[in-house]
Amino acid sequence: MSHNVNRRQFSTLTGGAALLAASGLPAVAQTPPVQSGTTGETPGARGFPEGFLWGVATAAYQIEGAWNEDGKGESIWDRYAHTPGKIKNGDTGDVAIDHYHRYKEDVALMKDIGAKAYRFSISWPRIFPDGTGQLNQKGLDFYDRLVDELKAADIEPFATLYHWDLPQVLQDRYGGWQSAETAKAFGEYAGVVAKALSDRVGHFFTINEFKQVTETAYRGVELHVQGETVRLMSAPGILLEDGPLNQVRHHAVLGHGLAVQAIRAMGRAGTKVGPAENMGHALPVIDSPEHVKAAEAATKALNIYFLGPMLEGRYDEAYLTAAGKDAPKFTDEEMKIIGAPVDFVGINVYIPLLLVMASDEPQGYREVPFSLSHPKMFSDWHRLSPESQYWAPRLLHSIWKPKEIYITENGCAASDEVAADGNIYDSDRLTYLRNGMMWQQRATAEGIPLKGSFVWSAMDNFEWINGYGDRFGIVHVDFKTQKRTPKLSAQWFKEAAWRNAVV
Ligand code: NOJ
Repeated sequence: MSHNVNRRQFSTLTGGAALLAASGLPAVAQTPPVQSGTTGETPGARGFPEGFLWGVATAAYQIEGAWNEDGKGESIWDRYAHTPGKIKNGDTGDVAIDHYHRYKEDVALMKDIGAKAYRFSISWPRIFPDGTGQLNQKGLDFYDRLVDELKAADIEPFATLYHWDLPQVLQDRYGGWQSAETAKAFGEYAGVVAKALSDRVGHFFTINEFKQVTETAYRGVELHVQGETVRLMSAPGILLEDGPLNQVRHHAVLGHGLAVQAIRAMGRAGTKVGPAENMGHALPVIDSPEHVKAAEAATKALNIYFLGPMLEGRYDEAYLTAAGKDAPKFTDEEMKIIGAPVDFVGINVYIPLLLVMASDEPQGYREVPFSLSHPKMFSDWHRLSPESQYWAPRLLHSIWKPKEIYITENGCAASDEVAADGNIYDSDRLTYLRNGMMWQQRATAEGIPLKGSFVWSAMDNFEWINGYGDRFGIVHVDFKTQKRTPKLSAQWFKEAAWRNAVV
């Protein structure tokens, strides 16, 4: 079967008819009459298992805009971005890419680029402007419409319940995640959303990136890349000591557990739930048993605060002993809630935190420094590591054996110049995604239960403290006119998703 179509056909698909027809972009496959894997064709050595989900991802604050419309309450990100000096160029998510009003166009674009699944987040203050209590029906209606639109386009919705936009009232009232009250409120909100949407949404992620929600937001973190120190701090931007920070970490995993419980109680039977964590992982210097064992030990140590307790229902003894008086306070009942079984584990995979080799030291590994010239991508923190797309799911699987794994984010920012012909030839992102997917393919070929992968991001958007400076989309957005243009990487994604293989 031929996958070729002419440029006219492709341009109809992307909606950029005249523009793309006139461009020198390679022809891209038209939406096929049948899905990959049902044609009898063998995808070959670079093929993914049948049913592998090629998805794209976004988050509410980064794309929606409409920050105070239809009864939405203020979030900690609204407050933070409105505080002078916090965000690059004074950017805010007030309008972002206006997805709240343009969601139909955006879903159509996702369909055009061949996405089989879409991971989006729900803005808690849209649903509960006061954090708890009175439901804002208009806010819920937005996600109802979005989900209907996705189903009609044959795109599977995956909803994240918390992607950092805490209702500001909970910050003011309880100090946010400093209090177990916020974890309880999160559970209640999760149950209400599951009840309303789980007839059509089969997968819910509880919290996105526990480390950012806790450490980056309540302490600030430092990264060292190419000899530069990158300091990150985000909303609400509070500096805590070790003890209170450990308690914040505990409340975040407790919130996760309470949300799992609530979704089981209020959602349709069979609704699946799990976290979306930026799992810290170590790379072995060499793929040989002793170094892989070292990488397992290091990876386990990197996840003592979040994945460990969520997947084991207990804290690491060495952590509690070392923390001493700063250890989190918890009850057995809370640990049961935190460790409630999940259906899958989502991981955002960007950078390895450590490179390790085997060692006789008690911790079981020795750190090897990343060299100063180790390549990085456009973002200052983004150390290059295509093999992380294999090692992160492999180590997750060998340490905790989750039933299913999703890579909930994979992608990079790029300079994304608009060429004279109007196109964006994002060669670095294309190379990044292709190489990463080779490694994900290896994971599936070795039987690791990696069920799908979401490109971060579906469209350019508000990149937190970096504002609109770091573009992550495979679809370009002109932030002034709101015009959407698929980049070269979107064409690659379409062909890969269609063939269900690395292309
Ligand atoms: C992970 C976060 O979940 C997402 O919101 C962010 O834009 C990407 N990393 C890129 O930094």
